[in-house]
Amino acid sequence: MTCNSSAEQLSCTSCVLHTQGRTQVVPGHGSSDAKIAFVGEAPGADEDREGLPFIGKAGERFNQQLEAMGIKREDCWIDNRVKCRPPNNQLRAYPDAVVKCPQLWLMPTLASIRPHVVVTLGATAGDLWFPGIKATALSQLARAVTTDYVTGIVINDGQVIRKWSYVVVGAFHPSFALRHGPFPNSVDSSIMASMARASYYSGLMELQR
Ligand code: URA
Repeated sequence: MTCNSSAEQLSCTSCVLHTQGRTQVVPGHGSSDAKIAFVGEAPGADEDREGLPFIGKAGERFNQQLEAMGIKREDCWIDNRVKCRPPNNQLRAYPDAVVKCPQLWLMPTLASIRPHVVVTLGATAGDLWFPGIKATALSQLARAVTTDYVTGIVINDGQVIRKWSYVVVGAFHPSFALRHGPFPNSVDSSIMASMARASYYSGLMELQR
């Protein structure tokens, strides 16, 4: 079941990316009961054409990693920090999209799905919860956050785990594993270790709720 691919999201014109040749907005996709949500950077050419996240080469690698860890993709929520493909995949040229888009769409989506764990794939997604931290450090990190129930904005109020808290687990981006060579290489192993950590925390969060 999909959720939050609202008409407003699909017709979003809030940043300049809607004028930069996108075919369509690519909303998050997966189970609205997901215990684990994965967040990447932005759609690539395949995602832009099909309207689904992580279905191109990086998505195929991501599927291999999930399968190796016994995680079913259809049980998860798969999303991106930015919903529209930047020309030539150069998201750095569109800082307003990087800031505005997750406030408008990703964070409220996570607030409505309330996953136990959010796995950030790559530094662009990781920067939302671990600002300024390098991808190598990110891949070792996990952090519990509490968010505003409605907007999904991180409050970090130091209170005990509540229904709208989740653990954020950092991971490398699957496309980095692709550039590193055939599956399974050391980057794949690191991503799969993050996936294992996500499964573990998901179980712990279940006990807390
Ligand atoms: N495809 C996506 O949906 N997101 C990425 O970050 C990369 C490829």
